[in-house]
Amino acid sequence: MIASGLLLQCRAGFEKECAQEITAAAGEMGVEGFVKARPDSGFAVFHAHQDEMGTELAKHVEFRRLVFPRQMVRVPELLAALPETDRVTPIVEVARALGRRFRALWIELPDTNDGKALASLTRPLAPHLEKALARAGVAIDDAKAADRLHVFFVGGRACYVGTADVANSARAPMGIARLRMPSSSPSRSTLKLAEALLEFFDERERERRFAPGMTAVDLGASPGGWTWQLVQRDMIVTAVDHGAIDARLLETGQVKHRRDDGFHFRPAEPVDWMVCDMVESPSRIARLAAQWIERAWCRATLFNLKLPMKKRWEEVVRCRSIIDEILGGGGYYLRMKQLYHDREEVTAYLARQ
Ligand SMILES: C[S@@+](CC[C@H](N)C(=O)[O-])C[C@H]1O[C@@H](n2cnc3c(N)ncnc32)[C@H](O)[C@@H]1O
Repeated sequence: MIASGLLLQCRAGFEKECAQEITAAAGEMGVEGFVKARPDSGFAVFHAHQDEMGTELAKHVEFRRLVFPRQMVRVPELLAALPETDRVTPIVEVARALGRRFRALWIELPDTNDGKALASLTRPLAPHLEKALARAGVAIDDAKAADRLHVFFVGGRACYVGTADVANSARAPMGIARLRMPSSSPSRSTLKLAEALLEFFDERERERRFAPGMTAVDLGASPGGWTWQLVQRDMIVTAVDHGAIDARLLETGQVKHRRDDGFHFRPAEPVDWMVCDMVESPSRIARLAAQWIERAWCRATLFNLKLPMKKRWEEVVRCRSIIDEILGGGGYYLRMKQLYHDREEVTAYLARQ
């Protein structure tokens, strides 16, 4: 069986951006195709005009380079009209045709209200499916297998059964980083930076790059959720904002509050990190972040781009080209991702290479 489609899960409302992004990525590889993406469905599916090209695309497109997709799964056609009395058998048949050994089985749903409603159906189904796969000789716990088996329900009687390369897909089911809100953080925004650290760095890199005593500037810091994350890592933070910073953070002695404009503030000495969550036009923020890197005011930066209501993909492309222009067309590392905790926004990581 050929799994030549590419299923991309995303935040509901961003299906069009997913479609534009995968079409652009496919175009760069010379793959032509079309996308099925229903507004607010929480997913999009790319189909190449030629099956072999779709398989090539899935092999070469780098999930971590994509901004809007939260998860990426190679899929054959939708498995529709599942009998209500036995959904398991047709799913097992497709799974068996796709492979015999998988690292894991993930049953996923669109991250929408309709998707959530399907959980009452899929939860009891899971143990039956696992047993049926085992009976059919399909292993779903092979630690050496490169692929994971995915079943993505889009309705009570329809699902995509597909596979994902463990090294080239999301690390959590549905690409959702489930983080607990720390009770002492002054704002929920803290979860965005916490997730960015998980998304952009592995554990070793996190420990090395956000180490005790390192310095950071937080632009648009009030009330202090991002600063809180850095303070937790025993870093020294200059929090820049006309608004107030949580008193408990100031009491740590690790935070200096500067009531200044984030676009005018200059650090007296270069810092390890500049982080920025100012609510401003994305292109202004992208320019500012690139200037901090270009002038070596910081070694690396994490910043959030608040996207406009329309032409959001175009805005991402524009921000990338602004950064590229300021940094002279190369010699830097840039990743952007719409994190689970991002709403109408994306988070970016930029550093010199
Ligand atoms: C989304 S909030 C930041 C939340 C913060 N990251 C947290 O975790 O608590 C945006 C902040 O940007 C600040 N801001 C917007 N424009 C600014 C500017 N030009 N200079 C400094 N701060 C600015 C606002 O005052 C506001 O406090």
